[in-house]
Amino acid sequence: MKHPYSRPRRLRSSEAIRQMVSETQLTVKDLIVPLFVSDNPDGREEIPSMPGYYRIGLNRLQAEIDEITALNLPSVLIFVKVPDNLKDNEGKEALNAEGLMQQTVRSIKSWAPELIVMTDVALDPYSTFGHDGIVEDEKILNDSTVELLSLMAVSHAEAGADFVAPSDMMDGRILGIRQSLNNAGFADTGIMSYAAKYASGFYGPFRDALDSAPGFGDKKTYQMDPANSKEAIKEARLDQDEGADILMVKPALPYLDVIGKVKANSLLPVAAYQVSGEYAMIKAASEKNWLDHDAVMMETLLAIKRAGADVIATYFAKEAAKLLNR
Ligand code: PBG
Repeated sequence: MKHPYSRPRRLRSSEAIRQMVSETQLTVKDLIVPLFVSDNPDGREEIPSMPGYYRIGLNRLQAEIDEITALNLPSVLIFVKVPDNLKDNEGKEALNAEGLMQQTVRSIKSWAPELIVMTDVALDPYSTFGHDGIVEDEKILNDSTVELLSLMAVSHAEAGADFVAPSDMMDGRILGIRQSLNNAGFADTGIMSYAAKYASGFYGPFRDALDSAPGFGDKKTYQMDPANSKEAIKEARLDQDEGADILMVKPALPYLDVIGKVKANSLLPVAAYQVSGEYAMIKAASEKNWLDHDAVMMETLLAIKRAGADVIATYFAKEAAKLLNR
């Protein structure tokens, strides 16, 4: 056999060499912990389609926050479950200064002032229709929804949110939110925009968690078509020009190419959201011993980072942090 000069295996021959030449590092500081807040203050309810993940009531949240900060995780992204009797078409409860989101933000900031608090800005948990916008004749209205989301963002900023994270996919909402925040004296509150959010089947378990499934139709008139990636660049550029601080792609693993393109075509940090269905798949397969849970968890997170994500929202954040901190 002729011996080639180039032998890539030389760089794989020991753990120390592999680490020295590794192109991608995943760290605890890259991770965002999604938090589901229960409308039952004493509740701690496991979500059946998300084994090991809980909806937690305000009275039990401090212990969770302590655990998150002890793991050195830097940030949380808050979602609240709204009881049916507080839902309507305009999401009025979303603007309640004493609402669950606003109370949660204030509480977390009082317990852990350094923790980065991000809030979901969208109508669906508050909507009788389970849609991300105001509904009229089974159509999702764009501009009146943007006005509402802008008020919602200001209300979250007043409660102390560091970043608002609009997940609705209405056109022009980053501009509307940025202007409203500035006018209300919150020029320093950031926006992490769900810039390229796809109409995905992978959100199912999340909708179970928040009881927020659409009551009619689907979300394809506002969320993106999975066939498209140039359109993701367009969405990302619009959001960047409208004043977003971080651009998000969602879901993550089925859209690694999109993460890479958005990263290459914008100047902002890119976030990726490893969504509920991605979590559920790995949990279900590893419960059956068909996959090695920890190996697959870390491999997916590393792959998302390698594709171009600077930060990753993931339900695995605590479990991954435990491994990374070892
Ligand atoms: C809705 C919203 C969804 C998710 C985050 N915000 C679901 C949807 O668009 O129907 C999904 C997150 C997940 O699946 O983990 N504004």
